[in-house]
Amino acid sequence: MSSPPASDYIRYLAAKQGLDDRSLNRQVWDHLAQALRERTDAAPLRVLEVGCGIGTMLERLLTGGLLTRAAYTGIDVQAEFIREARRRLQAYAHARGAGITEDGEVLVLKNARQEVRVTLEAVELADFLNREQGNTTWDVLLAHAFLDLIDLPTVLPRLLALLVTGGLFAFTLNFDGATIFEPVIDPDLDRRIMTLYHHTMDSRRHRGVAAGSSLTGRRLFQHLKEAGATVAAAGASDWVVFPGPAGYPGDEAYFLHCIIDTVAQALHGHPELDRGLLKPWLAARHRQIDSCELIYIAHQLDVMGYI
Ligand SMILES: C[S@@+](CC[C@H](N)C(=O)[O-])C[C@H]1O[C@@H](n2cnc3c(N)ncnc32)[C@H](O)[C@@H]1O
Repeated sequence: MSSPPASDYIRYLAAKQGLDDRSLNRQVWDHLAQALRERTDAAPLRVLEVGCGIGTMLERLLTGGLLTRAAYTGIDVQAEFIREARRRLQAYAHARGAGITEDGEVLVLKNARQEVRVTLEAVELADFLNREQGNTTWDVLLAHAFLDLIDLPTVLPRLLALLVTGGLFAFTLNFDGATIFEPVIDPDLDRRIMTLYHHTMDSRRHRGVAAGSSLTGRRLFQHLKEAGATVAAAGASDWVVFPGPAGYPGDEAYFLHCIIDTVAQALHGHPELDRGLLKPWLAARHRQIDSCELIYIAHQLDVMGYI
């Protein structure tokens, strides 16, 4: 997926937390939980999450009891997300009566069942890889709603090289080529807008290099194979956002407005799309959210395994 406008990205990431919870593929998640349980030994498990945003995956792992004794490192290029992740983790611990202390930059979360040392760093992935490759290794590598923003063929092998032999990876919510909005406004225009929107994901560049693909989910299988990794579990983790009797759950109406804004941002000034057609289409989609009519489906895949 492309990014929504930066201004309220923190609210967007928080708004999608519950949606992500219900979208994660259960079989893949259970495999991950089982694999983590089997690897709990005397030494704390070293876990790396790239593109961690505001730390919602860490909260999910803690709540699910997937991390007991662990040293978790989360990185993200946005310093304000990392600050928010730190603030949220402290609030998370306080709300649950868990101890949270600071050991230099490291936050240590401790309760009767868990001791997790958390390092959060604002750093660009390429710089992190250049710094850590050959110097540090991890037991577990996580990327959630992230791999569709990078150039898989070049970056995935470098990411996997950070794992110890036998190390686990779990790559969740990888966009995979289908964005659906219902009800249809105009079948031809809807199709055209989605096609061009997906093309913008394929042509995205970051620091002058290719960054992202609209078919990341399905392409992962081949890239993982080429990198010598084994897939142990895989399945769909589609986002399905729909209004219930009380409207959209949580802050998901806001989430939907962000998604429409993301399409607007991606297609702004697109040479193959008449602005006179796009603008009313976007306005109609925003109105459908306000009147609790819009249904949004994004096809995504989860994959986990080991190297
Ligand atoms: C779609 S968000 C997902 C965030 C988080 N995993 C979640 O699902 O809530 C993608 C995240 O990747 C980060 N990101 C994008 N490109 C990056 C890069 N090159 N290096 C480090 N972080 C990056 C963004 O700042 C953003 O927080």
